Amino acid sequence: MKTKVISITEETEDSDKIYQEASEIIKQGGLVAFPTETVYGLGANGLEEKAAAKIYAAKGRPSDNPLILHIAEVSQLNKIVKTIPEAAKKMIETYWPGPLTIIFEKADCVPYGTTGGLETVAVRMPDHKIARRLIQESGVPIAAPSANLSGRPSPTKASHVAEDLYGKIDLILDGGSVGIGLESTIVDVTTVPPMILRPGYITQEMLTELLGEEVAFDPALYDHSSDKRPKAPGMKYRHYAPKAELIVVEGPSYKVIETIGTLAAEQEAKGKKVGIIATEEYQSGYHSGLIEIIGTREKEETIAQNLYHILREFDKNQVDVIYSEGFSKENFGQAIMNRLVKAAGNKVIKLPDKTEIEK
Ligand code: TXA
Ligand code: MG
Repeated sequence: MKTKVISITEETEDSDKIYQEASEIIKQGGLVAFPTETVYGLGANGLEEKAAAKIYAAKGRPSDNPLILHIAEVSQLNKIVKTIPEAAKKMIETYWPGPLTIIFEKADCVPYGTTGGLETVAVRMPDHKIARRLIQESGVPIAAPSANLSGRPSPTKASHVAEDLYGKIDLILDGGSVGIGLESTIVDVTTVPPMILRPGYITQEMLTELLGEEVAFDPALYDHSSDKRPKAPGMKYRHYAPKAELIVVEGPSYKVIETIGTLAAEQEAKGKKVGIIATEEYQSGYHSGLIEIIGTREKEETIAQNLYHILREFDKNQVDVIYSEGFSKENFGQAIMNRLVKAAGNKVIKLPDKTEIEK
């Protein structure tokens, strides 16, 4: 298949024609990759089982892993869900459009081929002009997982999509780099209390404060040792993973720098190519390896924006082993560390600080 790539911004003249072409592909049952505020999505008509099947084929995605339906207006929601619980109404009012996916009981028109056989459906209204206009012109909810090959880091630029899916999809709309860089928060409102199934930019604290009541967090996401299954089927797969071995080193700053430095030198002595994921704050402490600056601890958003790109860069440079600093787990940090630790296949070195040793 020939994949067309079209660049588009708000200034693009003749954008009407581009949206017409892209929405025609969706209507005909084809695949269009498009930017959202979180990551790039791989879109198809979400109400057509055959179209959704093409997404699974292009990504190499297991068929039990359900897709998120993307809508442009709240009026589209009533058609695809059975009921809208009060908690969901509050979330929609405050956080849509935005990086929040809500799980509802599905209406009959939503095919099992989109929901991985489940009676529930995940829905999100993206806060991105290109995404919303594409959905509007297509006239249907667009099913869209992240536009990467299954198991690879999610795409934050159109070039990442092309790396994984060129020749397998009809069109890539290149709208530049995304803003957030990590996938949306997923919250299930079919249970009481609502439960977060995947952490993201909208945090547990934000939702608890909004509702004035408890919002739970899927315990399987913390407990890597047990065989508890995460409620979001996609969270059980090794995911976001670079080709190299990735190890996260957590603890007090001086110990993290020292340990990463020692491990990197040891690996290099063995002839291995080493990558280091460093923050601006710690970078000057490293003297070996290929160092990629992920961002600043002062602004966790910068870390989220660069994480997937850096993992892909290390793949391109064919490093054998990557050491990453650990980051704060507060607020949005919870999502960042969830993705990083998953990418590492749960390989984390925890260095105690002095007070813990003395205890
Ligand atoms: O930010 C995002 O959410 C991006 C952009 C493109 O919108 N999309 C995205 O989709 O991350 P995907 O397919 O890569 O991840 C969707 C996750 C998977 O873990 C899937 O198992 C879960 O959502 N999911 C979808 N429907 C579900 C349902 N009915 N119940 C539980 N989990 C569901
Ligand atoms: Mg994904």
